[in-house]
Amino acid sequence: TYVVTDNCIACKYTDCVEVCPVDCFYEGENMLVIHPDECIDCGVCEPECPADAIRPDTEPDLETWVEFNRKYSEMWPVITQRKDPLPEAEERDGETGKLDKYFS
Ligand code: SF4
Ligand code: F3S
Repeated sequence: TYVVTDNCIACKYTDCVEVCPVDCFYEGENMLVIHPDECIDCGVCEPECPADAIRPDTEPDLETWVEFNRKYSEMWPVITQRKDPLPEAEERDGETGKLDKYFS
């Protein structure tokens, strides 16, 4: 599966949702997640994210993010249409520790 990680938080560009063939992105207040059981591993969303927040779970140390994506994808509504990024997207892009600072 692919997963959404830290740098989506407070940016939420949403370019990713337009390209997903199985509509497996789910929307929270300030980030999106991917449902790990619905993702078919096509990889097309990864290069679309301006914040480089989408990663394949074959990369090391992503177990926590897989579980995070699973948990919230079961609570949040699906999103299939792109919308405006969050107002501070450019400023927040690349900041560290976003999960602790901004996730809500
Ligand atoms: Fe959707 Fe493909 Fe990205 Fe998985 S890898 S979330 S199926 S676009
Ligand atoms: Fe987030 Fe990147 Fe999509 S910032 S909303 S994963 S395009």
